[in-house]
Amino acid sequence: MIKIAPSILSADFSDLKSAIALCQSAGADYLHIDVMDGHFVPNLTIGPVVLKSIRPKTDLFLDVHLMVTNPEELVEPFVRAGADNITFHIEAIENPIKLIEHIKSFNKQVGISIKPGTSLDILDPYLELIDLILIMSVEPGFGGQQYIPESTARIQQLDKSLKILGIRKQILIEVDGGIKLSNAKIVKEAGADILVAGSAIFNAEDPHVAIEKFKNI
Ligand code: DX5
Ligand code: ZN
Repeated sequence: MIKIAPSILSADFSDLKSAIALCQSAGADYLHIDVMDGHFVPNLTIGPVVLKSIRPKTDLFLDVHLMVTNPEELVEPFVRAGADNITFHIEAIENPIKLIEHIKSFNKQVGISIKPGTSLDILDPYLELIDLILIMSVEPGFGGQQYIPESTARIQQLDKSLKILGIRKQILIEVDGGIKLSNAKIVKEAGADILVAGSAIFNAEDPHVAIEKFKNI
């Protein structure tokens, strides 16, 4: 079954407690936390202080997506605040191996995210070292954008490469950006294990029903 990771970026930040409770009761698998620093992307969102307040409100897996220029400096603050995994952008750093080891030293899962325009080949040296790949299907920075259609072929390509390497089962493919009920099935069939959805859940008439529908695609 597909895993659903609602992105709280599209939730009402004045009432995150209700948004989190809703995700949990509707059967979401992860809670996706979009961290933006105003440098790597032109938007500012959630810091460790906010994550620390979220942690005691849920036992959902806290899936932290760092869209920041200096992920190495933010790993420890986010781990201490309660992150279950740390996903960083491959475009943001020069020494991914060092960062992967740093995240693992806290016994947390490691993800690498890749922007729509970055060649997937850049991931090759790290595939056997990480738990998750986050394929961006929009330019990172904002919720509510349109899914980039070329993303489907990239998911298929990654799925195929992981199968050829014999490591498909040890790594999760997560897809983030523009995921709607109308394209979720295509993305799943292309090879996604986890779908991130922000506006399609929190702007839906009934977010609870939206999560249930995503689970059943
Ligand atoms: C974009 C973020 C996404 C975003 C998804 O930079 O990484 O997680 O919240 O929002 P939707 O589902 O509205 O595209
Ligand atoms: Zn995200």
